[in-house]
Amino acid sequence: MTTQDEISVEIVAAREAYEKGRADGGHAVHHPSRSYAPYRSSVLRHPRQPLVAVDASGDPEAVELSGPVFGATDVTALDSDLTRQHRGEPLGERITVSGRLLDGRGRPLRGQLIELWQANASGRYAHQRDDHPAPLDPNFTGVGRTLTGDDGSYTFTTVKPGAYPWRNHDNAWRPAHIHFSVFGQAFTQRLVTQMYFPGDPLFPYDPILQSVTDASARQRLVAAYDHGLSRPEWSLGYRWDIVLDGPSATWIEEGR
Ligand SMILES: [Fe+2]
Repeated sequence: MTTQDEISVEIVAAREAYEKGRADGGHAVHHPSRSYAPYRSSVLRHPRQPLVAVDASGDPEAVELSGPVFGATDVTALDSDLTRQHRGEPLGERITVSGRLLDGRGRPLRGQLIELWQANASGRYAHQRDDHPAPLDPNFTGVGRTLTGDDGSYTFTTVKPGAYPWRNHDNAWRPAHIHFSVFGQAFTQRLVTQMYFPGDPLFPYDPILQSVTDASARQRLVAAYDHGLSRPEWSLGYRWDIVLDGPSATWIEEGR
């Protein structure tokens, strides 16, 4: 199996190639390559043919008839508090994650469905395909959703997820992260990304985060600790804005 050292060499090489291109006058690229070799499965699964428009039948709305939908009444306050979804409280460091959903001009996007999913404090997903030997928490499922307010703001209460191993290479560990989805006006517009926590020592080792080779774009995936958002004797606050386009855009996973 490939070692971390070998992966790290590839990560540095890709970053240096990008930075050399920038120094030579190349454009900034805020989106990762579809085929980023250190992230092994990206090479195997990225599209090799042009994407096929869903609208092959000539009916642009057909896909929306069978796609998931939601209404404002589907989303309750309980959905945004992942610590209150079971009989007891989950173990871990309670956190408040808050920010704003903005377009490229800094305008707030109101009434938008934001969904998140994450591992528990031990780094284990409540999912049958996660079989790594860390404990499940009977009081934590790890999924939540909310609608943005008039100022584009959202807030979740949850616990800080743990780092977890994966099988990209030998001794591969993902830094703690929360997956985010922004639904848009229809399922065909859905965007998916990840939020990280500041100061995580695993950042340089992680091919998924490092697949964003532009340092400023990578930094925008990292939340800021916000002491003003911390609630006394209750939770630590992290602030993270999601910007949909423009030069400050948050990296969004392609093809989801
Ligand atoms: Fe994950």
